[in-house]
Amino acid sequence: MFSKETYVARREQLRKDVGHGLIIIQGNNEAPCNYTDNTYWFRQDSTFLYFFGIQREGLIGVLDCDSGQDILFGNDIDIDDIVWTGPLPSVKELGESVGVAHSGDIKALQQLCLKTVGEHRRIHYLPPYRSDNQRQISKLLGLKFNAVTRYASLDLIQACVKQRSIKSNEEIAEIEKAIATAYNMHVGAMKMAMPGRYEYELAGYMEGQARMGNGPVSFPVIMTIHGETLHNHSHNNRLETGRMLVMDAGCETSMNYCSDITRSVPVGGHFDERQRAIYGIVLAAQLATIRISRPGITYQEVQTEISKILAVGYKDLGILKGNVDDIVAAGAHSLMMPHGLGHMMGLDVHDMENYGQIYVGYDDETRPSEQFGLDSLRCGRKLEEGFVVTDEPGCYFIPALIDQWHAKGLHTDFINYDELDRWKDFGGIRIEDDILITQEGCRVLGKPIPKTIKEIEETMAS
Ligand code: GLY
Ligand code: MN
Ligand code: MN
Repeated sequence: MFSKETYVARREQLRKDVGHGLIIIQGNNEAPCNYTDNTYWFRQDSTFLYFFGIQREGLIGVLDCDSGQDILFGNDIDIDDIVWTGPLPSVKELGESVGVAHSGDIKALQQLCLKTVGEHRRIHYLPPYRSDNQRQISKLLGLKFNAVTRYASLDLIQACVKQRSIKSNEEIAEIEKAIATAYNMHVGAMKMAMPGRYEYELAGYMEGQARMGNGPVSFPVIMTIHGETLHNHSHNNRLETGRMLVMDAGCETSMNYCSDITRSVPVGGHFDERQRAIYGIVLAAQLATIRISRPGITYQEVQTEISKILAVGYKDLGILKGNVDDIVAAGAHSLMMPHGLGHMMGLDVHDMENYGQIYVGYDDETRPSEQFGLDSLRCGRKLEEGFVVTDEPGCYFIPALIDQWHAKGLHTDFINYDELDRWKDFGGIRIEDDILITQEGCRVLGKPIPKTIKEIEETMAS
């Protein structure tokens, strides 16, 4: 947990930005896995963590913008719980630990909500992403279950996005801690990526390393020799020489700040000629992102710029043809990269996407593109100092997509389908780092993880 003052200041800013009414910030509850008492690992809600920092289920934080009062609600445990959990601090003590002077039980929260509705004061809440919390809002505010999302507060969403988008130095330090653990996850797995091993062995190693850093993985590990499937979560394949292995994995710190790193390595440790060619193209694009990202440029513009580098590379290989600017304007290169360049990262690996990604990644000035590929860019807006975003270009030869585009005759002016057919067995490559936008440009966060062909081959040989 950060110091009490951090949470007090964040809440004060939030009350100021929202301006009026009552703000409800729900913590998470335990979630049953296969029966009630056998739960998934507990993950506190990130907004609750940001403003209250407490790792306990069943809590709700309330901020009264009109009176300036903050209140923590939750039911204290009794002796029937204590025999199973051991003694735990009371709700009042938890609140005091983060500078909240007032507390109450859930019944008191219900009464406060009724009173506030009676006073015709606005009650702000975020769109719940878990059904138990959606049910709780429905009950507290007397709303139909299905109406809850519709009445979520845009003012609150925007105030949260404004504050959480700019990472403080103490948040950056936490993210770099998560990347230090990701270094161990990735370097260890790279060394294991030898023929005869199975994907699940490397994925399991990574999960163990994440736990040794005192947190869980930040999303299910992607460890696959079929990297052409963008989020491939199966881990059953045996590693074979000649395949590229895509390893996309990160972890959370004990405070739930995240890392999200991708490395792609040749099984066995030596890049062959085709792997070298594609890897070089993706790496050039990944490094160009680092060179050009700075405050004032939109990430949409950065993706367009680095797409030109990808297109030049594919042209040199004979996969694409024609004028590079025209290729990119038409979106023909996106056949090999049907996703966006990156997303915000912080307390969530895709930071704040529970608010609705449009509010996080876009604004009135920058609207989402409708072009295939660029339309999947999660954060397209103007970069600002303090943003943490991922830089994750890739190249994928997706047989079903190639066949579909070919059958439809898409972009035949720019795509050499005969050449492309020869790459259908290649798989995919993605390279991902987490970058901090600084005053002049950007900085790759954390201890550098082997990334050039030379660094990867040397690491895998050691
Ligand atoms: N790990 C998913 C992503 O890179 O966005
Ligand atoms: Mn990733
Ligand atoms: Mn990512």
